[in-house]
Amino acid sequence: MKNEDKIFVAGHRGMVGSAICRALRAAGYSNLALRTRTELDLTDRSAVDAFFAEEKIDYVFLAAAKVGGIIANDMLGGDFIRENLLIQTHVIDAAYRNGVRKMMFLGSSCIYPKLAEQPISEESLLTGSLEPTNLPYAVAKIAGKVMCDAYRKQFGFDGFTVMPSNVYGPGDNFDPNTSHVVAGLMQRFHKAKLSRAEEVVAWGTGAPLRELIFADDLADACVFLMNAYEDGGMINVGSGREISIRDLTRQVADVVGYEGKIMWDRSRPDGTPRKIMNNSRLEALGWRAKTPLRSGLEKMYAWYLEEVAA
Ligand SMILES: NC(=O)c1ccc[n+]([C@@H]2O[C@H](COP(=O)([O-])OP(=O)(O)OC[C@H]3O[C@@H](n4cnc5c(N)ncnc54)[C@H](OP(=O)(O)O)[C@@H]3O)[C@@H](O)[C@H]2O)c1
Repeated sequence: MKNEDKIFVAGHRGMVGSAICRALRAAGYSNLALRTRTELDLTDRSAVDAFFAEEKIDYVFLAAAKVGGIIANDMLGGDFIRENLLIQTHVIDAAYRNGVRKMMFLGSSCIYPKLAEQPISEESLLTGSLEPTNLPYAVAKIAGKVMCDAYRKQFGFDGFTVMPSNVYGPGDNFDPNTSHVVAGLMQRFHKAKLSRAEEVVAWGTGAPLRELIFADDLADACVFLMNAYEDGGMINVGSGREISIRDLTRQVADVVGYEGKIMWDRSRPDGTPRKIMNNSRLEALGWRAKTPLRSGLEKMYAWYLEEVAA
């Protein structure tokens, strides 16, 4: 990418999209085309076509999607598959037909088979059954990845897919019903601190291991890959660092300043014992995550205090 190129960051107000905008601006890319959902609904094909025809976009980061936790996925599967299929189909097709030079599609580690061998390599996609609770979302994401590959093969369109591990950071969703693990813990400890609660109950044993990546590290990798990655298909983006849910919970409590007890309700399910990506393809290109977990959590909590809790 050259600094003057026009770059469309779809979903620029979301956690990942906003971090990509910060990374682009920090690297000197200032010609960004940005639209909120109200300004450009990506499920509306004619609006997407008109936008691309008018704006003459050079590069696309597709970070707009309908995203949510287990409950939302379970209850609203029809919305998840319809909206995500429409958004990505419209954007990939319009990007190709309007001469976009390169496009990145954001996938997700949850589209790998439920029992994929750990660490999860790119080759394990479509080798086993998927987690049933987010099947509509995962199938839509897989369709987006396959569409990028098929457009590359048939039309020579330079689209590829990035597969991030669990992302946390500023702009995360703190809704107690739909948040992911870090934001969920953060808002619970924050509320417990304010109410001076003596204990917070966490689910399971705390033993499962998870890989987390700070949103700004993911964004840095996205900008790096847009410039450096040429193989098509997909590439995992993780921090390469694992942490147990127990240690993560303690660290979040510590960052928030919650001083009460943490109790573990072992009658609750633990979920998958280990979930980590194989990042060797990314590391071979020379990229590694920089942000230590503690500092990422501190930045996320500072954002939460300013934007959500205030
Ligand atoms: N969060 C994670 O842990 C994680 C992990 C792996 C992969 N990812 C992937 O990263 C991508 C971004 O996730 P995120 O966490 O940043 O999501 P997010 O915070 O919910 O942001 C989603 C963005 O998509 C936009 N959007 C949704 N529907 C739209 C529509 N119909 N038209 C236009 N814009 C629309 C929203 O726009 P408005 O702000 O205008 O409403 C919002 O800016 C997703 O593809 C997700 O699968 C996320």
